[in-house]
Amino acid sequence: MNAIELLKNDHDKVEELFEKVKATEEETAHRQLFVKIKEELETHTHIEETIFYPAIKENEELTDMVLEALEEHQQAKTLLEDLSDTTDGKQFDAKLKVLMEDVEHHVEEEEDEMFPEVESTLDSSELEELGRQMEAEKQDFKKSYMTQTG
Ligand SMILES: [Fe+2]
Ligand SMILES: [Fe+2]
Repeated sequence: MNAIELLKNDHDKVEELFEKVKATEEETAHRQLFVKIKEELETHTHIEETIFYPAIKENEELTDMVLEALEEHQQAKTLLEDLSDTTDGKQFDAKLKVLMEDVEHHVEEEEDEMFPEVESTLDSSELEELGRQMEAEKQDFKKSYMTQTG
């Protein structure tokens, strides 16, 4: 799978989880879905930050996009931590809503602006190679994630 396909698949998976959150008012369901959302987002931002962004940022057109993306990742991570510490149900929902809106905006920018630029910069074998590296890193990260969180 090439890098863009892999990242888009991740985006779709997260969006599916968001849709499930939106489909129910139940607090326990929101909490359970949040655990999955957090794991998916932490894995996804990890592979983008360690493999994808460094590989594309040399291109001048992409430098600013990558810097902005990194800031947005940082905001999302702060919100994820904040959500883990929020006990009040209403406040939790409000924060989760903001997280979802922020992530949807970020994904839109990646898919509509960043990825097309990447596709015109890297050739298909480079995209395949990046995809392979990210797939391998994803497996490793999920393994260590499971040991960390039990
Ligand atoms: Fe991203
Ligand atoms: Fe992404």
